[in-house]
Amino acid sequence: MTGGGETATVRVALANRSYDIVIGDDLLANAGTYLAPLLTRPRVVIVSDETVAGLYLAPLRASLEANGIRNDAIIVPPGEGSKNFAQLQSLLDRLLDLRIERQDTILALGGGVVGDLAGFAAAILRRGVDFIQLPTTLLAQVDSSVGGKTAINAAQGKNLIGAFYQPRLVLADITALASLPERELRAGYGEVVKYGLIDDFSFFEWLEEHGGAVLSGDREALGHAVAVSCRAKAAIVARDERESGDRALLNLGHTFAHALEAEAGYDGRLLHGEAVAVGLSMAFDLSSRMELCSRQETERLRRHLVAMGLPTGVEQIGLPGLTPEVMLHHMRQDKKVTDGRLTFVLARGIGRAFVERDVAEDTVMAMLAAALTTHPAEQI
Ligand code: NAD
Ligand code: GLY
Repeated sequence: MTGGGETATVRVALANRSYDIVIGDDLLANAGTYLAPLLTRPRVVIVSDETVAGLYLAPLRASLEANGIRNDAIIVPPGEGSKNFAQLQSLLDRLLDLRIERQDTILALGGGVVGDLAGFAAAILRRGVDFIQLPTTLLAQVDSSVGGKTAINAAQGKNLIGAFYQPRLVLADITALASLPERELRAGYGEVVKYGLIDDFSFFEWLEEHGGAVLSGDREALGHAVAVSCRAKAAIVARDERESGDRALLNLGHTFAHALEAEAGYDGRLLHGEAVAVGLSMAFDLSSRMELCSRQETERLRRHLVAMGLPTGVEQIGLPGLTPEVMLHHMRQDKKVTDGRLTFVLARGIGRAFVERDVAEDTVMAMLAAALTTHPAEQI
């Protein structure tokens, strides 16, 4: 990672649940100074995974202790497999054994898995204790740590058991991204591109020019990408916290992505951001088939994803036997399904996404049939 950057603060404006996202360098090693004024009392439990704890638990604890904040740590196994009932139960048991009380605070130190699991535990423990997000992956910094969605997975599908529960603060330490494996950084980039596609064409153009710098760990480029993404997400969450309207836009590509993840079985073969990249490609493909968006724009998106080393087709993510019928079966568990009808986020072009509740199943099946039997380049 190169350079040292400025600290940016993005406000998530939600009346008495408003909070800041602070984006900058060395924030974990200085977390105590940010946390101390916010805590009801100086007692926290850090939830992290084994990998992240090995890297960042010691500096975090040192900073907490330097600021008089008593702390314990609970470590879960890394990976999507931890977002299940067994891990949630074990986490809640350990939090109760530590006698966490309502005035105490849970810190989620890690990627989206830790954030979603610890956030959900915070939402239901003693009917709600405060929590703070300390995201350490690109995906978590630009998406999962912001906006208060917390959840675990069910056998029936992704993120089906959870709660809307906002954190008190998000500290996005750009320095921590330096240790992130390249594949994880790339997967997080899938969610970054999403913001350009939803409503910010100029950000997409910026990504076409600077995406390589983001993925090479350039500090300025990473800081800019995280800040623009957080501003975009904060604005949408502020106008629709509980997804009764606009927030569904943040699910661009996700109806497909969640179905792919359910099929892969949450076993680590397929990363969420990789599934999102394929899902974005499918959402644009569907939009082109419905003549909402030109083929050229769908191609332009795919070219960018390919240039960034992200998958755009199912055959690239190791699900060769997947059929349209199985895909549709998974998609029916989508949280946006109403009266059995699927809702899609479609696009009239790059930066022009919208929510559509009336898509003919035949059109979806035709798109899936083509997507599951041919390489994306052949579909254009
Ligand atoms: P993750 O939490 O599994 O982290 C990825 C891997 O990177 C893990 O093995 C972790 O140990 C490791 N890691 C994390 N930080 C590191 C660092 N700085 N250095 C080295 N290794 C590090 O995955 P993720 O991609 O962060 O999150 C994916 C999850 O987020 C999915 O479950 C997805 O459903 C969820 N999500 C939630 C929301 C939301 O709004 N709540 C939004 C998007 C995604
Ligand atoms: N990641 C989608 C949302 O937060 O709504």
